[in-house]
Amino acid sequence: MKFSTFVSVAASASTAFGASLQQVWNWGANPSNIQMYIYRPDRLAANPAIIVALHPCGGTGPQWFSGTRLPQYADQHGFILIYPSTPNQSNCWDVHNTASLTHNGGGDAYGIVSMVNYTISTYGANRDRVYVMGFSSGGMMTNVLAGSYPEVFEAGAAYSGTAHACFFGAPGATPFSPNQTCAQGLSHTPQQWGNFVRNSYPGYNGRRPRMQIVHGNNDWLVRAQCGHEALKQWSNVHGVAKAREVHNSPQGGWTTHVYGDGTKVQGLFGNFGHEPRVDEQQLLRWFGLL
Ligand SMILES: *[C@@H]1O[C@H](CO)[C@@H](O)[C@H](O)[C@H]1NC(C)=O
Ligand SMILES: *[C@@H]1O[C@H](CO)[C@@H](O)[C@H](O)[C@H]1NC(C)=O
Ligand SMILES: *[C@@H]1O[C@H](CO)[C@@H](O)[C@H](O)[C@H]1NC(C)=O
Repeated sequence: MKFSTFVSVAASASTAFGASLQQVWNWGANPSNIQMYIYRPDRLAANPAIIVALHPCGGTGPQWFSGTRLPQYADQHGFILIYPSTPNQSNCWDVHNTASLTHNGGGDAYGIVSMVNYTISTYGANRDRVYVMGFSSGGMMTNVLAGSYPEVFEAGAAYSGTAHACFFGAPGATPFSPNQTCAQGLSHTPQQWGNFVRNSYPGYNGRRPRMQIVHGNNDWLVRAQCGHEALKQWSNVHGVAKAREVHNSPQGGWTTHVYGDGTKVQGLFGNFGHEPRVDEQQLLRWFGLL
């Protein structure tokens, strides 16, 4: 396994900010013993939005803080960034566990939602503008959180991840786990994928997170098919059919897959492998923060 690709996002540390990334202790329920880091820009917007940003396997919250330019945009626009960090399972999120795949069931997902609650109550953040993004294992966890906690997240963006519950039934979700069926492109029908989401929170009839799925066509570690499967899932959950593909969008060489009117489910595919291709402006527009 090309494990080094997971940690290559540890780019140079950003030093230009007045504010800095802070570790938070005792933020609330934390059943799997993960860690919380927060970035609060010096000039916080009134009733600020929150973005939860999830690191890949082998990464940490502080590494992922340096892995995108979201902190610079937080300085400009006043939103809060939460960087959860897991020390477990090769620093991969527990996306295979029933706990995380169940609303209020525990696991890493519950600890992350309790970080969101802490941030809302401590800093007066806006409960209606909570977003989640992540790369690789973080992209997988983005789909898990959107499925298990639809009431918490207004929108999500999963980079090089897998559908909610794709690893369900596998013993682990790391590049070293014996069962890589999910990462190799496990296929279900849209209805089956949708049922995984609905069964995570039976009886829930409220809003569902708008989802953007970003994937490299040449990704052999978490195959491009995984992105297409995630789109089948969210298109079923939102009840929006694929309408069209737009070539050279959002930029040259990429293709945008538009579902319905494109406001609820969208796929972005480009010719790259397993690497984080986060276009922050594009992401923040999807979240409605630009
Ligand atoms: C995660 O790692 C921490 C620190 O090593 C440990 O205390 C905790 O039990 C682990 N959690 C799980 C679910 O393995
Ligand atoms: C988060 O806050 C909501 C609303 O107060 C509450 O219903 C939920 O149980 C909390 N979840 C966690 C994980 O703390
Ligand atoms: C492998 O994992 C998939 C989920 O990713 C699961 O459906 C399948 O049953 C697992 N296979 C075995 C042999 O455990």
